[in-house]
Amino acid sequence: MVELISLETITDNRGHLIALEEGKGVPFQIKRIYYLFKTTAGASRGFHAHKNLKQFVICMNGSCTFDVESNGIKNKFYLNDPSQAILLDGVVWREIHDMSADCVLVVLASDLYDESDYIRDYQSFKNYKA
Ligand code: TYD
Repeated sequence: MVELISLETITDNRGHLIALEEGKGVPFQIKRIYYLFKTTAGASRGFHAHKNLKQFVICMNGSCTFDVESNGIKNKFYLNDPSQAILLDGVVWREIHDMSADCVLVVLASDLYDESDYIRDYQSFKNYKA
């Protein structure tokens, strides 16, 4: 399942603030945070799915396109707004393209890094039965 979520924003005359908490905004226990930044021009990332990991992805700065596929349905998101997040839950193939030079992508994850949770081959993803 893939969902684009508008994050609750606290705004006053000083600007905007977004707070994310486990169970409030983020629908899982947050065990890891990582971020992608200063991506080489023209480089794409991702090209994998996860068997069990849930992720919450926010483009904090700059922009990128986020291509996803799950249950045979493909979607493309243009991310350029830190008040939006993509929730990835279930076996979702993802590819990140067109990252601007100033793109910063933050990912909140439901588990620690575990290479055995990755499906890195597209055909294996298509064949994978959860
Ligand atoms: P990878 O997940 O393949 O990056 P992307 O999907 O953005 O292309 O990870 C790249 C490398 O970083 C790989 O060697 C695994 C390592 N890595 C960690 O050690 N811990 C982590 O939490 C993540 C996400 C990656």
